[in-house]
Amino acid sequence: MEFLDFQHDPAAEKLVAEVYAAPPMAYIHSFGCQQNVSDGERIKGVLCDIGYGLCDRPEDADLILYNTCAVREHAEQRVFGNVGALKALKEKKPGLIIGLCGCMANQQHIVDKLRKSYPYVDLVFGVDGIDTLPQLLSQKLEGKKRILLAPAQRPVIVEHIPVRRESDFRAWLPIMYGCDNFCTYCIVPYVRGREKSRRPADILAEFKGLVAAGYKEITLLGQNVNSYGKGLEEGMDFSDLLHLLCTVPGDYRVRFMTSHPKDASRKLIDTIAAEPHLCKHLHLPVQSGSDRLLAAMNRHYNVEQYLALIDYARQRVPGITFSSDIIVGFPGETEEDFAATLALVKTVGYMQLFTFIYSKREGTKAALLPDPTPRKEKTDRMQRLLDTQDAIAIEKTAELVGKTVRVLVEGYGREEGTLSGRLDNNLTVEFLADESKIGSYAEIELTGARATVLLGQCKEA
Ligand code: SAH
Ligand code: SF4
Ligand code: F3S
Repeated sequence: MEFLDFQHDPAAEKLVAEVYAAPPMAYIHSFGCQQNVSDGERIKGVLCDIGYGLCDRPEDADLILYNTCAVREHAEQRVFGNVGALKALKEKKPGLIIGLCGCMANQQHIVDKLRKSYPYVDLVFGVDGIDTLPQLLSQKLEGKKRILLAPAQRPVIVEHIPVRRESDFRAWLPIMYGCDNFCTYCIVPYVRGREKSRRPADILAEFKGLVAAGYKEITLLGQNVNSYGKGLEEGMDFSDLLHLLCTVPGDYRVRFMTSHPKDASRKLIDTIAAEPHLCKHLHLPVQSGSDRLLAAMNRHYNVEQYLALIDYARQRVPGITFSSDIIVGFPGETEEDFAATLALVKTVGYMQLFTFIYSKREGTKAALLPDPTPRKEKTDRMQRLLDTQDAIAIEKTAELVGKTVRVLVEGYGREEGTLSGRLDNNLTVEFLADESKIGSYAEIELTGARATVLLGQCKEA
């Protein structure tokens, strides 16, 4: 693994200024997870670094980049739908550059499809290519017809890539890239490559910069943050990193995702108990409540171990809440397996669930398994899971009424004049207050709940 520093490209900046009479506009849209959103912020930073401006509508753009997600078929279809819709725009504006990057671009069959069926797509590069964008664009502006890079993984981490963050009070901070787990259903290890951790000093420097700039919530990102540090000279694990970051003085809170249950240690839970800056909430994707399926998914834990971890966390961190991801309809899932998932969901009592119907991903191990369960059966199971979780979440939300909580005010509520804030546990509360509060913390007395949205009164309003 090599660590490189981002290099500003003055030649690219000059070329952009020569080609366009006024600063060209870029429209960047990121699909998928927070990691991709974070990459999108760096793509914007790199473009601004060579003289691009940013716009909110594809019609206003000289460069359109879709930063894509490959995790489920639906995600890919959405991207193809969006790209297809650009054909007319390109005909009207031949100088328009259309590019596709991110996770889909790291699959050969997707690059082949774009080459063959989407001739108006000019530029394709993968997740490791963000720092090279100025050079790719230079080639394009110098007249090269199409640049469709083959999927490749670079064993490097490029630091100090410029970043244009979408919020000025909530920030994404990647601490590692890639994934080594190869859960049998998942495409991420194939498209994002092997796990690689950033150096603690680089993370700390970025973290300090965010706190100094007034960021109130910093979310550490990695596909499996609990395996942070593998292969680094520093000999640090994720808990050590959290302790290090929390030494930075300031008024902020820290979240992280995702925690793989197989690597979520007692030490991590102790760290959450010990560090006031850490949200008392854990996103701990279980995927299934059936030991048979957990083994078939290659998850390396069973229900008993998972529940023991939840129990330990509840003992050590009073009031801690949990959220999870669940896949419904993994190949060969029986009614019995699914019943075990429902039972687990009830036992844990999650605050929030992110539920997905299994989507076959070419190249993964699960894609080779027989999958006889009809779609209708899977959607029925999904509905039963959603109904079960709704009842739990409504009950859990109602239990909070009467408490006073500290929330980060994020924006406007659904009703005129209200603002919306987020609790430690990720729930939102709506209350009346002046909009100047957006981006800061407020003490809110929880007065009621509408399903899973809390209603409250601002103490200092
Ligand atoms: N690294 C994280 C999340 C990765 S993707 C983790 O391990 O939890 C986010 C979620 O998408 C996963 O947790 C899983 O629930 C879901 N997912 C991944 N591949 C999927 C597939 N092929 N079909 C349906 N859901 C999938
Ligand atoms: Fe996918 Fe599993 Fe890696 Fe998460 S841990 S990204 S689900 S392979
Ligand atoms: Fe999607 Fe890539 Fe994230 S596949 S979920 S954008 S890592």
